[in-house]
Amino acid sequence: MITWRTTARAFKPYILTSWVAIIHASCINTKEHRTVQFSSASTVKYSTHIKPILDKHCIECHGIAGTESGLDLRTLESILEGGESGPSIIKNNPNESLLLNLIEDQLMPPEGEMLRKKQINTIRMWLRSGASA
Ligand code: HEC
Repeated sequence: MITWRTTARAFKPYILTSWVAIIHASCINTKEHRTVQFSSASTVKYSTHIKPILDKHCIECHGIAGTESGLDLRTLESILEGGESGPSIIKNNPNESLLLNLIEDQLMPPEGEMLRKKQINTIRMWLRSGASA
């Protein structure tokens, strides 16, 4: 005999599939999704994406109140010039970029709020794609 139970069982896989599809579709326009797409593009720019992060978290000690370790993080030129340890970024080479290494190792900023994963990822993408202005 066909009851609602057997019918439901028979349709279960389809119901699950369409549920997943619906959830996925509703995610596409969320901010999270856009960020992932954005981060994989090579359009990350210093002026639009990187400077605001450094201005908020770094320049107090590297530009305004002083230039710790001789490093001024207020302009792209001074970032490239670097501080006592030499250039703080290496274009196309995030892994060799001191600025990113210190952020990822949670050594910078030494106090206050650490950078969020999304911001760190943006910096990595920027360096990987050639650190454009
Ligand atoms: C509260 C002050 C403070 C803040 C905020 C800060 N720094 Fe620093 N930074 C320092 C000090 C102090 C040193 C020197 C550390 C040492 O010599 O051990 C340093 C050193 C560095 C160096 C090494 C420079 C060199 O050439 O030796 C880099 C790169 C750096 N910071 C990046 C950053 C970045 C990127 C941020 C923001 C995410 C940041 N810092 C935020 C205080 C700060």
